[in-house]
Parts: sequence; structure tokens; C-alpha cells
Amino acid sequence: MVSKFIRLSVYFLLPFNQMCCCVSGVCRYPLGMSGGQIQDEDISASSQWSESTAARYGRLDFEEGDGAWCPEITVEPDSLKEFLQIDLRSLHFITLVGTQGRHAGGIGNEFAQMYKIKYSRDGSRWISWRNRQGKQVIEGNRNAYDIVLKDLEPPIIARFVRFMPVTDHSMNVCMRVELYGCEWLDGLVSYNAPAGEQMTLPAHPVYLNDSVYDGAVIYRCVMTEGLGQLTDGVCGLDDFTHSHVYNVWPGYDYVGWNNESFPSGYVEIMFEFDRTRNFTTMKVHCNNMFSRHVKAFRQVVCYFRSESDWEATPLSFSPVVDEKNPSARFVTVNLANHMASAIKCQFYFADAWMLFSEITFQSDDPTHKVDDSNTRILIGCLVAIIFILVAIIVIILWRQVWQKMLEKQLVDIPSYSVTYCVPASTSTAASKSTTTTVVQDGVPHYAEADIVNLQGVTGSNTYAIPAVTMDLLSGKDVAVEEFPRKLLTFKEKLGEGQFGEVHLCEAEGMQEFMNKEFLFDIPEELPVLVAVKMLRSDANKNARNDFLKEIKIMSRLKDPNIIRLLAVCIYSDPLCMITEYMENGDLNQFLSRHEPEGQLALLSNAPTVSFNNLCYMATQIASGMKYLSSLNFVHRDLATRNCLVGKKYTIKIADFGMSRNLYSGDYYRIQGRAVLPIRWMSWESILLGKFTTASDVWAFGVTLWEILNFCKEQPYSQLTDEQVIENTGEFFRDQKRQIYLPQPVLCPDSLYKIMLSCWRRNTKERPSFQEIHKALLEIQP
Ligand code: ADE
Repeated sequence: MVSKFIRLSVYFLLPFNQMCCCVSGVCRYPLGMSGGQIQDEDISASSQWSESTAARYGRLDFEEGDGAWCPEITVEPDSLKEFLQIDLRSLHFITLVGTQGRHAGGIGNEFAQMYKIKYSRDGSRWISWRNRQGKQVIEGNRNAYDIVLKDLEPPIIARFVRFMPVTDHSMNVCMRVELYGCEWLDGLVSYNAPAGEQMTLPAHPVYLNDSVYDGAVIYRCVMTEGLGQLTDGVCGLDDFTHSHVYNVWPGYDYVGWNNESFPSGYVEIMFEFDRTRNFTTMKVHCNNMFSRHVKAFRQVVCYFRSESDWEATPLSFSPVVDEKNPSARFVTVNLANHMASAIKCQFYFADAWMLFSEITFQSDDPTHKVDDSNTRILIGCLVAIIFILVAIIVIILWRQVWQKMLEKQLVDIPSYSVTYCVPASTSTAASKSTTTTVVQDGVPHYAEADIVNLQGVTGSNTYAIPAVTMDLLSGKDVAVEEFPRKLLTFKEKLGEGQFGEVHLCEAEGMQEFMNKEFLFDIPEELPVLVAVKMLRSDANKNARNDFLKEIKIMSRLKDPNIIRLLAVCIYSDPLCMITEYMENGDLNQFLSRHEPEGQLALLSNAPTVSFNNLCYMATQIASGMKYLSSLNFVHRDLATRNCLVGKKYTIKIADFGMSRNLYSGDYYRIQGRAVLPIRWMSWESILLGKFTTASDVWAFGVTLWEILNFCKEQPYSQLTDEQVIENTGEFFRDQKRQIYLPQPVLCPDSLYKIMLSCWRRNTKERPSFQEIHKALLEIQP
């Protein structure tokens, strides 16, 4: 935490003496020891204590390995043999260093109390760094964990940097380090110049030498192959006798020459660069304290060397000699895009003294330019790609988030379809879990986990029953017989589902196969019309098994208001279920083609259904459901579309699954998971995945509403699927914000009361089918 703060703060805190026009104040970025931009292979050392304390572990604020770089042997006073070396791969302007010891979570306690820095621009000539007072040793760490940052005054221009631990007694030392600065874009590697001179003022001498020059000074006359004050990033004050820098001598910031020492009238400085560059400008920071006979140069003549030859024609520039403003200033020289790897400039005196504190070069470095433009293009592309991706993600999320939210709420429903349930209280070993059967108002409730799902095959129906029922059904008493398929004559296709088709057929001699109790008024010897559900010939094994299971379940259901399985053809393919044929099709279509009795129907000549017959049909549905619930079967998809209409308004509950195109709008598809008849579903079925007789009661209320509306309108037709589910949330919250289906025009209060009771939030407060059936019988005139 502390170290992070330090790391961040170095970007912004300026060293006290750098409040000038120069780069060193802002050039304080970590160069990549802690951030990892410096590669392991660019970190080396004189030696290492072990593999786990190798040079690559010498990264500030890193705890990898054994926590730091540690040299092989104890560091002796003044031995200076050990070093940790960093190759920055290109010249950098380094303004700050950070060091830290080895803590290793409390195991380590080695650190460098002091250290020296050596640096090199070319990897061969190594220069010892000294501060402005000439001191080499830098105070390091006092403990193994704190980071200590030290400004480099003067800064270093180098590619290679070595940290050399220094001790005053024999001790084990480990180090972690960071360099801070920025890339040295000037490309200047060295300047050669006449050594600066001393000015004698009445009060004191002014030393105008280049005190931080890191090259050689020959005979105190010529400076060669180094960089110094002219590139240290510190600009001199207007009054050259003073300095920003604390505790230095007068004239410290400037390198100055006296006209009398140069009979030619100029000072020649040669600048060497790392490579050939395309130079645009040179900026020379000059003192202009004319009261002291100091002025900026009156002319500069520059020669350019590219490759090994000097250009014949020099560039000349004469700034206006300013005798009015004594401020120190940058004089900008236009270098006119000369290509050069070295520049030799002759600065002509305008007065007795010429004092420079900084010289910088600006070049259009082609390689950098290409790099920069490439980088910019790359960044632009990345930003564009990110933007597009974000936009796509937002759109996708926008479309899916609602659905996803719902899916989260919905309990896992592997494959929703119509389900009949029977109590698990009788379950056997085949049952996956032990079930608590809650019997409330004679209505048992079962957890979904207790249900065995069977995928129906003809209408993609799914029946779910507890395993016990399967056992019962698999017993000898499966009350259905094999029918000779040759006695079936195809008449027409009645419907189609995912797993097969339903055909209207004539069945010869069906009477023999029908239970006596179920013969009704079918004339003997005449062919009987039957509906034949047929499994697709290419159905897989699972579908086949499910078809057979469905037969077992269906064969047990014997009620005048439940569609009856008459016989089967399972000895050979295709597997068939033969059920009663209901000549008026499903109740939804039936009522859709009818009108309520009244003036309107009379005028339009449309077939009508009386209120009494509506009630009669509703009562039959209640009766069929009373039967199913008595067996503790849960239907899961009670709706007019799943009721069949025979002669004289007789109704039988069936199940056609969800795959009939005609009713696809009644089912909400949860991506890749389930198809749900949400408009008929109770809140707990939608939100909790609970399907019980109580949720069948809810669906009955909706079915009753459909009937009283003559199936002319889909439930909640003004709401989208999403709004229906939102409304389900309101039923759950029960803050009187839920929307109920409205009372149909034809519907008396007594019937609407039944509907509302079916939609009670608390499942236990909903009526049983027995109660509903009774109430409907009472309403029927
Ligand atoms: N469509 C599907 N099954 C049917 C049946 N049993 N009667 C009438 N139409 C049907």
C-alpha cells in the first residue's frame, strides 16, 4: 500500500530545484522493473546467492523468488565488486531511483544501506554517477521492506545502469530496484566543447565550468565525449550568480566562455547523436544579463555530418541581439530538416560573455515517427475494435439481460411440457428423493424433484410421474390391448408434433378392444373413428421409451373428461396410440368459431354457444381435473387448446404438447432450455418451478377466463411475455401492483370470483378442483 502510494506519487511530485522550463520535472515514470516492461534477460548481476535470488528477482515491490537479488558473497566495505545491472535497451533520461531490501514475508532482512550507481550509454564506457557536490554514495535502505526513492541530481542519460551496494562493514546485502525517467528523445550521446571559464566579479568569483560533465576534460581546456550541465534538464536563472540548486557555487547552472579566450570570436560545440536524425530545431538556453556583459549569441553557424562527411554548406542563423530584456531565454535555431548524426555549431559572441545552461535538439526521428504513427494507428484500431465489441456486447446484453434475469429466477426445468404427477408418498427405490407430501384442502403438493419426467412423443408431450406410479403402471394390469394395425384405415391428418403425427382413422372391430364400460353408444360392427398418435419411424430410443411410458400412464386414466386410450400398436413399428376421436377438435378453435348468444350472433349468423353450455364445458374440465388431482397427477398445461370437444359439448382433457404451430404464441421460449405457457402459469411455477395441483388450479382459472371470452383474446394480450413475467413478480411481491385478468363481459360475478380464487398468491388458499367443480355445478342453471 505504502509502496503503491510512493510509486504513484513520483509521477507528480517535482524535485525542489526543477521548477523550470526543462523536462526533468515531468520525466519521472517507472521504467519497468516493478511493472515488468523490463524483461528478465535485461536484468543481470555480477553474481547471485542462489537461483531464487537471481538478478531477475531484483524488481522493486516484487516478492517473487526469494524476494530480491542477492549477490553470492558478503559485501565488503569498498569492494564494489557486486552490482545489479539493468539494460534499458535505449537511451533514457533517468531522474530518480528506488531501492528496497529483501523481506520475503518476514524471512529476509537484507538490504543495502548505501549504494553507488554506474551508468553507460554504449555498454563499454562506464561512468560513476556523482551528485552535484561530487558525492558518489547514495543513502539506501534502513530496513528490508520500505522503498527509498532518491532523486538523481544530476540526472543520468544512459542505456545501462548498475546498482552497486556499498557497506561500511562486511554484510549480506540484497536489493530490489526501480529506475524512473523517460526516453531520451534528443538522441544526443555526447558534446565536445571548450571547458567553461571563471568570471571574476568584484564580490566573488563565478564558476562557469560544466561541473557535471561526465566525459573527459583534457588539460582543463576541452571537454570531450560526455554530457553534462547542458543536458541535465536544469535551466539557469536570469541572474547567473544564483541557482535553483541548493548549496552550490555562483554560476553553477551555466557553462560560460569569455570572448577574449576565443580569437575566432566563436565557441565551437560538437554534438554527437545515437544515429542519423532529421533535425528540425535546436534550442539554446542562454543568459542575457547584459548588465554583466553577458548576452545570448549573435550568430550561430552549424555544420552537419551524416555518415562520415560534413556537409559543405553550413546553416547560419542570427537571432536579434536583445539589449532590453535581461531574462534568460531559449533561442530557437531552425535546423531546416538537416539529416545528421553529428552537428558542429559555432556560437558567436554578442558581448564579453556567453553563458549556456541547456541545449536541446528536436528531430523528426523517422523510426520513431513510423513507430509513433504505427502505434497511433494500432491504438486507434484497438479503440475502434473495443468500441465495436462493447457496442455489440451492450446490444446483446440489452436483448438478453431480461431473459437471463428470468432464467436466473426460474428454477431448472429440464424440458417443460405437460406433466401429470402422482404422489411420491408411495414411491419406491426408483424414486430419487424422499418426498414430503403436503395435503392442504385435500390438495397435495409435490416438489418437482419427486417427479420423473417423461417426454411424450406425438405432441412432444411430457408427463411427469413419481417412480412409484411407473411401477404400478409397469404391472400386469396395464389396461390396454394391442390392436391389429391392418384394421386401421387412414382418413386424414389431425395434427403433427415434434415426435410424430396424429391421424384420424377408421378402426374396424374396435368395439372388441374397448372396455365394456367405455362402449357408449357406438353401434356394433360399424367402423369407429379414432385418433391415432404415431411415433415417427426415425425417432430415437429415448423417444421410443417415452412413448411406451406415456402409453402406460394414459392407460391408467379412465374418466369421462379425460381423453381415453383405447388400444395400441406396439408389436411393430411405427408405435401407435389409439385414442377416442373428438369430432369438434380442440376447445380453443371450437369457441373461436362460435359467438355468444345474442343480437350480434343473430345478425352475423354465426354459430353460438349458450352461457349454460359454456358453464357445462367448464364444469367438465373441472371434473376431469378433479379426477386427475384425485390421482395426484399434475397436468402442467391446462388450457382450452388442450381440451377436446366432442358431441353435445362434451369435453375431454388431453395434451398436445407444445409443438403445435397454431399455439406457438402461447409458449415462451427460454433460450435453449424450456418452453413455458407463461400466461397460464402460476407465479410459483414461473419463479420457483413449482408445478402442483394448486398451479393446475391457477391454469384452470385462466382456462375459465378463455372460455368466458370465447377464446377471442389471449390472456394478458396487452402485455408482452416479459411484462407477463414482470407481473408474476408483482404476484410474488403482493403489493397490490399485480394485474389480474379482467372480468369478461359475459362473466357473472360468481364465476369471476372463482377465477380470482384460483389466482390467489397463497397456494393453500386456492380452491381444490373438488370445490371448483361443486361451485360450477351450483352456478349452472
Ligand atoms: N387431435 C388430436 N387428437 C385428437 C382427438 N383425439 N380427437 C380429435 N382431434 C384430435
